[in-house]
Amino acid sequence: MKVLVTGASGQLAHVIRQIWTAHDLVLPEEAIFDLGKQSAIQSVVSEVRPDVVINCGAFTQVDRCEAESDLALLINGTAVGWLADACEARQALLIQISTDYVFDGTGTRPYREDDATNPMSVYGRTKLEGERQAARCTRHLIVRTSWLYDAWGKNFLNTMLNAAAQGRALRVVDDQRGAPTTCRALARQLQVAVAEEWNGLVHTTCQGETTWYGFAKAIFEAKGMAVDLSPCGTADYPTPAKRPAYSVLSGDKRTRLGTDVMPHWLEALGDVIATPDLSKEA
Ligand SMILES: NC(=O)c1ccc[n+]([C@@H]2O[C@H](COP(=O)([O-])OP(=O)(O)OC[C@H]3O[C@@H](n4cnc5c(N)ncnc54)[C@H](OP(=O)(O)O)[C@@H]3O)[C@@H](O)[C@H]2O)c1
Repeated sequence: MKVLVTGASGQLAHVIRQIWTAHDLVLPEEAIFDLGKQSAIQSVVSEVRPDVVINCGAFTQVDRCEAESDLALLINGTAVGWLADACEARQALLIQISTDYVFDGTGTRPYREDDATNPMSVYGRTKLEGERQAARCTRHLIVRTSWLYDAWGKNFLNTMLNAAAQGRALRVVDDQRGAPTTCRALARQLQVAVAEEWNGLVHTTCQGETTWYGFAKAIFEAKGMAVDLSPCGTADYPTPAKRPAYSVLSGDKRTRLGTDVMPHWLEALGDVIATPDLSKEA
């Protein structure tokens, strides 16, 4: 199977490169496969002739999106429509990676796929537009995930480890709840989803839930590091973009659709700490 991946320099694409080794993978660099250019999308897709396109590329800097909303809409929304058209022309499957930020975070139980969306940020609104655009392709799988990280990349795990290495006292938000999700767990679940021919919209995060503070505490415990860590509130750290206070996504539909391989977030964290380099995995 030929698989074309966008956003090659990002953390999810990095892990897909290491895990989807049974497939003919093509990950063009962003200078060539620029989501901001319809002509680039058309020519790469018609040259590569993929069976599956995984759209990992996005304008993911949530706070910058507030100031650069036109660019956010172009990359996270409009470009997905161009990808959908290119996939439709080839009858390829489009996998669109989306986000918990499509919800406003006022929920009190895990969000289901049919719950009303109400994004509170430019990032969330433009990613929701990306979902709508992806659905233009007959064969589409829209996967909402949350709090993505892995051993490599710009993410919460590495931010915490770098800050702790500098000996800094850390205050971390304890009033936002979600599910930390490893890129490797998501990449494995995507493989299963393709093999089992899932279609439509599905929530895919690691099991369980915690706060950013709980996540940080677990990281330092797993690493055996003594760190001066204390909880704080969202109000203590105002940011340009609003984040959902509660963004746990229900896995019920995923379990109904087929084989659910998502681990508990603590187990997934242990895997990343024990095997940071996936190429060395037994
Ligand atoms: N990270 C999370 O917590 C999280 C949570 C839920 C959903 N998601 C979604 O999951 C997907 C993968 O996220 P990730 O964590 O792997 O993000 P990431 O590491 O930021 O990767 C996204 C990549 O897209 C690239 N990109 C930006 N503009 C582009 C363009 N015009 N053309 C082609 N590529 C472009 C970025 O390149 P530059 O860095 O050079 O701009 C970056 O390498 C995204 O769709 C994201 O919205 C992420």
